[in-house]
Formats: sequence, structure tokens, C-alpha cells
Amino acid sequence: MTGRVIVVGSVNVDLVVTAHRLPAPGETVIGGRFAQHHGGKGGNQAVASARLGAPTSFVGAVGSDDFGRAAREALESEGVDVAELRALPDAPTGVALILVDARGENSIAVASGANGALAPSDVKESLRRLAPTHGDVVLAGHEIPTESAAAALRVGRAAGATTILNPAPAGGLDEATVAMADLVTPNEGELATLLAAGVRPQRLLVSRGADGAELRIDDAVTRIPALEVDAVDTVGAGDTLNGALAAALALGQPLDQAARRAV
Ligand code: RIB
Repeated sequence: MTGRVIVVGSVNVDLVVTAHRLPAPGETVIGGRFAQHHGGKGGNQAVASARLGAPTSFVGAVGSDDFGRAAREALESEGVDVAELRALPDAPTGVALILVDARGENSIAVASGANGALAPSDVKESLRRLAPTHGDVVLAGHEIPTESAAAALRVGRAAGATTILNPAPAGGLDEATVAMADLVTPNEGELATLLAAGVRPQRLLVSRGADGAELRIDDAVTRIPALEVDAVDTVGAGDTLNGALAAALALGQPLDQAARRAV
């Protein structure tokens, strides 16, 4: 039986400048190209999941502005159910300023806007309406308040769904929240942040860029190599991994296969 993916996370408008290298603090780098994309880690994850064939619903918030309306249309056109994407009257849609260098590496600064105003009660109400069940996957991100991500994991777990926490960004997460996830999906930097805060997840898929990923279940480590590619832009690579992982699990694949598919 096919389950659903419910992504609880962020939506941003991405304003992207591609330059030969990332500027140092105080430096101006000239000669870049500009592009505007739909983004937000949650939005990217939902699109990846829907494109891979899993019925996908999104829980999140945008502003009542042009960016928010465009984001809703974009998600809808990808087949994502946006009935639980709130349009908040008092907060703007999130914006991400992104720099990408010639090697495809990036740095990102986010103005959270409506994502930061998504309350735990909003998440609970939306999940009550979506009614996750066994076989579904609830994927919570951390570009929304920690308490809201925690609410998603709590409700998902209580309903018997598989819960995934993408700890991006990882700052501010606590042991109790992380422990409600069946699987935690940090990159190496996010894992270092969690460990430095004394948070030690036992079930992890750690993404390692060109080096693939490691599935760590308790003490067992499985290394998953990446395909060799010429990276042109790594923005959203981790989001795609998360969306693909959630979709594969919802479509019935066992964890190790789903992890390989995601990588
Ligand atoms: O992971 C990439 C995403 O991070 C971008 O789409 C941007 O919106 C930020 O949220």
C-alpha cells in the first residue's frame, strides 16, 4: 500500500547570485549572474517527493503577498497538496539570499518571515486534518520554529507514521525533539553542531556531498557512495535527498534501499 509524504517545513523565494567565488567578509565580488527561484528546504523537499511519485502534502506558511501566491502556485503545479499552506496576513514570505561559486558551493542567509510564525498549534491543526497514519511519512524541517517541528514529529509518531527530522539548520535543536524522529538526516556540519550541543541521534542518514552518505543505525554504519557528477549548483541537494528518502519510504521501500535511492 502506498503511503503519503507530509512535509512540515519552510517556503522561501530564493534570490541567487552565481559568482566565480564567494566574497570574504567586507569584500565585493563583481561579475555574477542573478536568478530567482522557488525554494525553502521544505518546499524543495515536497517537490522532490511529488516528482518521485509519492502523494505529497505540505504544511507551512507564506505571507499574503506576491511571493507567497507564486510559491503556492509553483508547489501546486508540481502536484503538491497545498491545502495546509497558510497565507499569514502579518508576515512576509520567507526570502533566501544565496551565493553560489564556480565549484557549485553555496552560502545562504534566510529572512524567515512567515516560516518563523508557523506555530505548533498550526502544525497540530493541519496534521489533525491530514490525519497521518501507519505507512505515511512525516518529514519535519528546522527552518520553522523548533516547537513546530517538534509538534510535527510528536503527532506523526503518535499516529504511527514514520518520522524524519531534517536538522537544517541544526542550531537550537534539543535531545527531546531529535528523539521523536525515527531517522535524522544531517549533513556533516549539522551533525557536528548536534554533537557539540550534546545531542546524539541513534538513527541517522548523514549526507556527505561528493562522498555520498552514511546510514548509521545504532552502531551499524553503511556507506553509500554518490554518483560522480560535475556539480554546477549544490543548492537544494540535501533537500532533494530528504524528499527522495521520504518518497521511497512512503512508496514501500525498506530503509537501506530508500537511502540509496535518496543518495
Ligand atoms: O537548502 C536550500 C534552501 O535553503 C534554499 O531553497 C533556500 O530557500 C534555503 O531555505
